[in-house]
Amino acid sequence: MDACLSSEQQPRPLDEAPSPPDDEALHTDGTSRPPGDFNEIEASLRSLQKFVPTNYTSYTQEYYQFVGKKIVIQESIESYGAVVWPGAMVLCQYLEEHTEELNLRGAKILEIGAGPGLVSIVASILGAQVTATDLPDVLGNLQYNLLKNTLNCTTYLPEVKELVWGEGLEQSFPKSMLSYDYVLASDVVYHHYFLDKLLATMAYLCQPGTVLLWANKFRFSTDYEFLDKFKQVFDTTLLAESQESSIKLFKGILKWD
Ligand SMILES: C[S@@+](CC[C@H](N)C(=O)[O-])C[C@H]1O[C@@H](n2cnc3c(N)ncnc32)[C@H](O)[C@@H]1O
Repeated sequence: MDACLSSEQQPRPLDEAPSPPDDEALHTDGTSRPPGDFNEIEASLRSLQKFVPTNYTSYTQEYYQFVGKKIVIQESIESYGAVVWPGAMVLCQYLEEHTEELNLRGAKILEIGAGPGLVSIVASILGAQVTATDLPDVLGNLQYNLLKNTLNCTTYLPEVKELVWGEGLEQSFPKSMLSYDYVLASDVVYHHYFLDKLLATMAYLCQPGTVLLWANKFRFSTDYEFLDKFKQVFDTTLLAESQESSIKLFKGILKWD
């Protein structure tokens, strides 16, 4: 079965191609002396052109199959949120195989760090009311993918909302309004500086009754350090694990003192 929206429309590039470097930056010896001989600069430019792509914005389409549907994901090379990461595949597979047990039809779901949106798309196709969140730069492509794959074929049209971990949560997601059945996260733990904010955000979004499903490929010692802290905050169950690919899927229930 094909994706829901058959439009050939392509999303607008997230960023315009950056301006070419100024003359001073072209010296190959790393110095910043003012431009000298014109021919020397011309030669540098020509040699740079051999190696530097002129089009910095590039898109590819990837195809996935879940719940009997072909899902088309528009990817980009420019940010962590632009491609589907391996944790997303494991989480999607789990949602698909446990739809009844998780009672996903009509469930209220929030995904953090949704990237190009595969997990939110699959959750929507399975009947959930989904809000997909990420950094502002990622939202255009995310919105495009969600619409392309869910318009006219899901009970609830997924929403897209900015959510920067640890920033302005009370304004954008007032605690009194939170009632998510599930918070989903795939491959949100990697080598970045926001791990404490991420954990605080995960905890903030959970109410009594909220289940957090977090899938991640474990690569660095800091990933395991995060897991230790996660276990202090959430009652944690390992739901699935691939030894070969080091991907783990956890269920977390916030500890209430
Ligand atoms: C490795 S990607 C995973 C994307 C997607 N969940 C997947 O598995 O395919 C990490 C995601 O977290 C988002 N992210 C990184 N830092 C963030 C922050 N401080 N606040 C909100 N989202 C962030 C990135 O934009 C990106 O979409």
